[in-house]
Amino acid sequence: MSFDENQAGSSDWTPSAWRARPAMHIPDDYPDTAALTAIERELSSYPPLVFAGEVRKLRERLAAVEKGEAFLLQGGDCAESFKEFHPNNIRDTFRVLLQMAVALTFGAGAPVVKVGRIAGQFAKPRSAPTETRDDVTLPSYRGDNINGMEFEPAARTPDPQRLLKAYGQAAATLNLIRAFARGGYASLSNVHRWNLEFVAGDRQSDRYRALADKISEALTFMRACGVTGEKVPSLNETDFFTSHEALLLGYEEAMTRVDSTTGGWYDTSAHMIWIGDRTRQPDGAHVEFCRGVENPIGVKCGPSLNPDELLRLLDILNPGNARGRIVLIARFGANNVADGLPPLVRAVTRAGRNVVWSSDPMHGNTIKTGVGVKTRRFDSILAEVDAFFSVCRSEGAHPGGVHFEMTGQNVTECLGGSDEVTERDLNSRYHTHCDPRLNASQALELAFILADRLKIVASDG
Ligand code: PEP
Ligand code: CO
Repeated sequence: MSFDENQAGSSDWTPSAWRARPAMHIPDDYPDTAALTAIERELSSYPPLVFAGEVRKLRERLAAVEKGEAFLLQGGDCAESFKEFHPNNIRDTFRVLLQMAVALTFGAGAPVVKVGRIAGQFAKPRSAPTETRDDVTLPSYRGDNINGMEFEPAARTPDPQRLLKAYGQAAATLNLIRAFARGGYASLSNVHRWNLEFVAGDRQSDRYRALADKISEALTFMRACGVTGEKVPSLNETDFFTSHEALLLGYEEAMTRVDSTTGGWYDTSAHMIWIGDRTRQPDGAHVEFCRGVENPIGVKCGPSLNPDELLRLLDILNPGNARGRIVLIARFGANNVADGLPPLVRAVTRAGRNVVWSSDPMHGNTIKTGVGVKTRRFDSILAEVDAFFSVCRSEGAHPGGVHFEMTGQNVTECLGGSDEVTERDLNSRYHTHCDPRLNASQALELAFILADRLKIVASDG
């Protein structure tokens, strides 16, 4: 990989071409644009966070998901924050994702590709550009790499220094994740032990215990056959990839480099990036930026997307119909999947387009409680994934993955689960900087339920 950002990659695209396009949800109120430019320039000389070879590996894994030979698990914070930055938080989110992955691997009878919403998931699109409290109106909070959450003018003013802090946090997070992934912490036997601890909880259902027992049996059998961590080192480590929404394009541009092996451009801020439901205009800046980099690109697909527009997006983002390039992330809301998703899946299947279909059961299921707190019901989240699975199956497409907003912490942000978070509990541990996340137990429970569902399908052949 070359570290010279000035080298030419694909001929009709440059990392800055997006600047000539309409750009939604990118702040234009930095008081000092020269300072912003100077910091973007500085960032463009910083080390890449990920390497082109790793990105290509993720594309190979996603190509396997497309063929139905693997399953994608993507999850993490809605928004990472400077305040919640702590090694224990990183460890706990990573650990829960691994636990979910082991359950899903067993259920699907196939490898699970693990992609965190982590190490760069800062910038947020907001439903309104300003927020009013009493008589005061200020710019909305847009994520810690742009402005601060405190409701005061200085905090809400975009500050380019935050980009450097976000880069530093992403680098340190990734460093710890790499150590966890390779250093023995992520061994299959550790992860399974954590799962046994989880299912031993007195509120957990016998079904989860039964699944965990079957995994124990499988591991005992493997050990008996000599398949151990000493003989098969891959049992002691794992592959883990990072992702975030490519919203703040100045930062993404600064992190984009040419790979000297292939001559292609890579956005080295994360292995995978995605385009949000509010910024996927075919002529817009975000699509223009993403079309030129070789990373896998997620596209959020919500109720406002029609089949023709989706096909147009695929033409722009993946003209050669390459495998492992596109993840279509359906986020309709539990009640809208059955009507909204089939036309999209049908159009993509008919056109012979290679994509991974994944379900984000979070963003279409946000509700407000009587006192105005944003939350999501566990049951709606599960209902959306169920509806997604059945639509994919009846349209002859492979339901390739799931995408959750979750944390390893014991927060009270989503309602329900067997530890039953109620409306009254919401304000006790409501820490999210943006949308409500599943807590560790809710996330694991979902994974166990989905593993059961996948198992039934796998055994149906
Ligand atoms: C998100 O994933 O945090 C998000 C904002 O999603 P969407 O673009 O689907 O609304
Ligand atoms: Co969100």
